[in-house]
Amino acid sequence: MWRTLGTTLVTLWLISLLLPPETEARAASSDPVARGKYIFAAAGGCACHTSPASEGKPNAGGKKITGPFGTVYASNITPDIETGIGRWSQEEIINAIRRGVRPTGEKMYPVMPYQYYSFMAMEDLKALVAYLMTFPPIRNRVPTSQLRVQVPNLAVPDPPQKAPRSGIERGRYLVDAISACGDCHTGKTPRHPYLAGTLSGPEDTPVPNITPDPSTGISRWTKAQVVKYLRTGERPDGRRANRIMMEVIQGTLVGYKDMTRQDLEATADYLRSVYPVRFAPQ
Ligand code: HEC
Repeated sequence: MWRTLGTTLVTLWLISLLLPPETEARAASSDPVARGKYIFAAAGGCACHTSPASEGKPNAGGKKITGPFGTVYASNITPDIETGIGRWSQEEIINAIRRGVRPTGEKMYPVMPYQYYSFMAMEDLKALVAYLMTFPPIRNRVPTSQLRVQVPNLAVPDPPQKAPRSGIERGRYLVDAISACGDCHTGKTPRHPYLAGTLSGPEDTPVPNITPDPSTGISRWTKAQVVKYLRTGERPDGRRANRIMMEVIQGTLVGYKDMTRQDLEATADYLRSVYPVRFAPQ
């Protein structure tokens, strides 16, 4: 009997090796909702929209973000008709994601990183919207933002129809258009060097330099170490990522940790290719 059980288990294990892992399947799926879930994961689970303020209810918004610009509250992006985005058309949601404009014409402050998402491909935007509409609607009225400064006018490029599928171009696309790594790792002052970190990131804490600079960046990290960090938050020296980096790794239901190995490797390869900047935020 034990031999039969053993043979069955070995057979099941062999079959499981033949099947693609779940995330690989989602990335390449023809189902827009499944692909949208993958984009949502690669966008760190749009983590700002799920917060203790909404009692961790997925996408219900409410997180308070303060800075020199004033106070902004993350929107409720569940399909609730009254307090969420349930009444918005696909085009209106896409406009909000890539231009930061609400259906009323009101402009959002770029705390919502639309300047990154404006590079997202149309196929990915549509899939993402399809996935957002599958969340349970949650009634949660978020306070209106109080801005002390004008919303800057940022140029919005036309979206490509299709996203790059592999290689360095895929890595650049993920880092810039989907994962918005620069939203935290590039300082907000004008001409701050790309991905070189900052002394005062979100929550006023320093954010490390992730350019391949030998003394202040991550040039010593191997590709496997970068991939492991984005999957688990564990640094090569064993230290764990702090809360905000962990928020995007864990995401909301899904996050960076659920990206395919191929995409995480493309991300690591691209990081290695950017201009090395000598700057130590710590
Ligand atoms: C929400 C803000 C935020 C986003 C988005 C973000 N990071 Fe981070 N990241 C941080 C913070 C803060 C730390 C510092 C964590 C710590 O001190 O434990 C960090 C740490 C890191 C580290 C470790 C560096 C070191 O020297 O310890 C790497 C590598 C990294 N991030 C890569 C990325 C990549 C790649 C992306 C995009 C896929 C990304 N991060 C997106 C905030 C962010």
